[in-house]
Amino acid sequence: MRAIEIKTPGGPEVLVATERETPALKPGEVLIRVAAAGINRPDVLQRQGHYPVPPGASDLPGLEVAGTIIEGDCGDSGLAHGDRVCALVQGGGYAEFCAAPIGQCLPVPKGLSDVEAASLPETFFTVWSNVFDRGQLKGDETLLVQGGSSGIGVTAIQIAKALGHTVFATAGSADKVKACETLGAAKGINYRSEDFVAVVREATAGRGVDVILDMVAGKYVPREIECLADDGRLLLIALLGGAKAEVDLAQVLRRRLSISGSTLRPRSVAFKSAIAARLKATVWPLIESGAIKPVIFRTFALADARSAHALMESGEHIGKIVLTL
Ligand SMILES: NC(=O)c1ccc[n+]([C@@H]2O[C@H](COP(=O)([O-])OP(=O)(O)OC[C@H]3O[C@@H](n4cnc5c(N)ncnc54)[C@H](OP(=O)(O)O)[C@@H]3O)[C@@H](O)[C@H]2O)c1
Repeated sequence: MRAIEIKTPGGPEVLVATERETPALKPGEVLIRVAAAGINRPDVLQRQGHYPVPPGASDLPGLEVAGTIIEGDCGDSGLAHGDRVCALVQGGGYAEFCAAPIGQCLPVPKGLSDVEAASLPETFFTVWSNVFDRGQLKGDETLLVQGGSSGIGVTAIQIAKALGHTVFATAGSADKVKACETLGAAKGINYRSEDFVAVVREATAGRGVDVILDMVAGKYVPREIECLADDGRLLLIALLGGAKAEVDLAQVLRRRLSISGSTLRPRSVAFKSAIAARLKATVWPLIESGAIKPVIFRTFALADARSAHALMESGEHIGKIVLTL
């Protein structure tokens, strides 16, 4: 099969076209003929040599695909050979064929193209797992999303808004701030010219937000503690701003705050399958009703994966970049 491999750690130029054997299926897996594959920041980190491939996973990049099931045991999933699905995978998405645990496959929501479906799994699984499972965003609670125009950000804003929450989001340009508000953020905050702590405090009459989804960390953490409401939860999913922070733990104690972090990729199939079931029940109907829309910034042919990575690293994108086959 045709695939894109990482020849050696480095820049986008190390992504090269190659021929590989079609993946052999493990028990519980199906083979997907890939029509489109989403690009995510972790693919860039993997290409740079900063994100080791978990044991047993494909060395090919690509954490999400959409396509057709052509082989393997669909068990009692309700899916069958010939069905259009999108899937969260442990790697191997930049290829003509990709193996996926059946529990991590979801039907393509009605009305979505392959490109739109391929843009869903990685960010929807990550956002659900952090904001709703770990972070327990509920009732009329409020959410602050750092990096609101990222693939993760556009998903977090839309799911939380569709479920009735007030959302604040930071972004690095006026256009990106506007995009966050168009997607449903009550207030977009330009982190280059505004202080998100002051903006959040003012917008919440001094109360702060209940949950923060953060990919920046570093110097953001003490400021995030300042703008969390009592009993607030901070969920770290990346460390783009650095892994070290000095925090006032007295505030954590006094105001019963929680700071938590996680990475999705090494979690078990059972863990990811449980998230898939919750997404199917709660979020898929919101996509099918049009309340949540995939945000596709640009597509590239598989053979041009280098350009897709270069675009992601430029930071110009709003939403998702997707490869087509
Ligand atoms: N833990 C997990 O399980 C998990 C899973 C998936 C992804 N992730 C991580 O989540 C992050 C987003 O992934 P993605 O694929 O959505 O990437 P992406 O689209 O490239 O987004 C990166 C975002 O980081 C934002 N950013 C950088 N510095 C910032 C700052 N100081 N303040 C606010 N925002 C800042 C950028 O905002 P501007 O462009 O506005 O500057 C951009 O929107 C990545 O770091 C990725 O590794 C973690």
